[in-house]
Amino acid sequence: MSITKERKTAGSVLKDKEDIFVLGIETSCDDTCAAVVKNGKEVLSNAVSSQNEIHEKYGGVVPEIASRKHIEMIDIIIKEALLKADISSEKIDAVAVTNRPGLLGSLLVGVGAAKAFSYYNKIPLIAINHLKAHIFANVLANDELNFDMRDEYISLIVSGGHSSLYIVDKNLNIKEIGRTVDDAVGEAFDKVARYLNLGYPGGPVIDKISKNADPHFIEFTRPMLESGDFNFSFSGIKTALIYRTKKFPELLNEKNIPDLAASFQAAAVDVLVQKTIKACNKFKINKILVSGGVAANSKLRDEFAQAANRQGIKIYIPPVKFCMDNAAMVASLGYFEFKKGHLSNLDIDVYSRTDL
Ligand code: KG4
Ligand code: ZN
Repeated sequence: MSITKERKTAGSVLKDKEDIFVLGIETSCDDTCAAVVKNGKEVLSNAVSSQNEIHEKYGGVVPEIASRKHIEMIDIIIKEALLKADISSEKIDAVAVTNRPGLLGSLLVGVGAAKAFSYYNKIPLIAINHLKAHIFANVLANDELNFDMRDEYISLIVSGGHSSLYIVDKNLNIKEIGRTVDDAVGEAFDKVARYLNLGYPGGPVIDKISKNADPHFIEFTRPMLESGDFNFSFSGIKTALIYRTKKFPELLNEKNIPDLAASFQAAAVDVLVQKTIKACNKFKINKILVSGGVAANSKLRDEFAQAANRQGIKIYIPPVKFCMDNAAMVASLGYFEFKKGHLSNLDIDVYSRTDL
């Protein structure tokens, strides 16, 4: 007999209950996250254990270390999420977990914990695509948006691993229309920060020190702005900064560091904003969903708000805590998949790459 058959079905749970509680688990990179979300919208808890301090000395995430740390933290974080939500595990109706894309060793820890939770509590398991969860973080965070939104959106995901543009259609099909041809934008932020000795992760510190700095200190070329497609390139801006400062080492004088950071940030943000607006114009779509860790960037948020305002486009960007990797977005999308009956078996695998 298959062990999956003993678990409750979505239909039986939905019939019996008014409120649905989903436990979300997210371990695709270096953050161990668990959250409890009620009815897809109400975040009862959102626990995160960051590994930033551990990876800082390496200037980036070391996959082997990340998965070992997830093993240490996963039970603690799940317990914390249940405790903060003031809910016992028997009251959870389904468990949603990121199983793609991400670091395989990291994904395995979250998926293993979710399988155990599902099996022990005899509740459905739902496999979640991390990128789709980032997009739906907007739905979680915005009362105007709903899971059955019958609308079209241009969606920009900007994180440490991804920089892509999508069209989300009325049936919630997601089609990629462009992506980075080299570094993800968050990766470029991290590499520039490392070169400038600013620590890891680079995005938040570049954002911070750029606030009162001169974004025109160096006018970097905006790569692929006129390329006619919707692809991006960020490694060129990073390389230009490195070449320029190697040629003129005095530029690396401490007082110039914020201006260098601000100039890099201005170029990266400019390309992201302009290309996203171009996509809106080309496909005649007037709503934008921005998400992923780099969506926390204050310059990106400001520039998008201004551009969208000028063009009469509605822009959605989640609060910072839902831009970064988190399990609330996983639980929320899990609720939506659960209602559609999209359940997974206990033999689900993990995948380092996947399309939406
Ligand atoms: O979505 P996320 O938490 O993890 C991935 O799925 O990659 O994104 C992490 C990335 C890192 O590269 C980090 O430097 C960047 O998001 N990031 C930022 C900011 N906060 C985080 N980049 C620019 N500005 C920020 N404020
Ligand atoms: Zn992410």
